Amino acid sequence: MKHVFESASDEETRAIGAKIAAEIAALAAPPRLLILTGDLGAGKTTLVKGIVAALAAEDEDAVTSPTFTLVHSYEGWSEGRPVTVLHLDLYRLEDERQLATLGLAEMAAADDALVLVEWGERFPSVRELADGSIRIETTGPQSRRITLEMKTA
Ligand SMILES: Nc1ncnc2c1ncn2[C@@H]1O[C@H](COP(=O)(O)OP(=O)(O)OP(=O)(O)O)[C@@H](O)[C@H]1O
Ligand SMILES: [Mg+2]
Repeated sequence: MKHVFESASDEETRAIGAKIAAEIAALAAPPRLLILTGDLGAGKTTLVKGIVAALAAEDEDAVTSPTFTLVHSYEGWSEGRPVTVLHLDLYRLEDERQLATLGLAEMAAADDALVLVEWGERFPSVRELADGSIRIETTGPQSRRITLEMKTA
């Protein structure tokens, strides 16, 4: 499954996040883990905000290290079912050994999980775990091409 969206502003990117939230909620087997790819400032976090807002999710918890936030977690609803969105940014993580301490596989194993990982493509183990990806390409100062792609279905 592949779906391409075009955005001309950060508001549109948030709205596309909401569409993606609805689209994946309607799937028989919703993805548990999606990698978000795109350059620095492409709009990955902006898109996550749109997804989280669409699920009426509340900022629940943040797991932090001394220098940065590792995981933001949000509790929301999708198609009448509870969903826990876990948002991670692995930009500053150096290697698989550091990654292993996060327990990403356990996060993605939960029935109600939607794990969204920025910079996850850097790690083979995350690519392996992922059900698909959302790629954001910068096509102009304000314009973005956003591609949702699922490995199966
Ligand atoms: N169409 C657009 N969609 C999303 N963001 C846009 C768009 N046009 C301009 N922007 C701007 O680009 C920036 C996107 O920032 P954001 O933090 O979402 O990027 P990111 O991909 O998460 O970056 P990082 O890799 O540093 O985490 C914001 O400043 C936003 O206002
Ligand atoms: Mg970001």
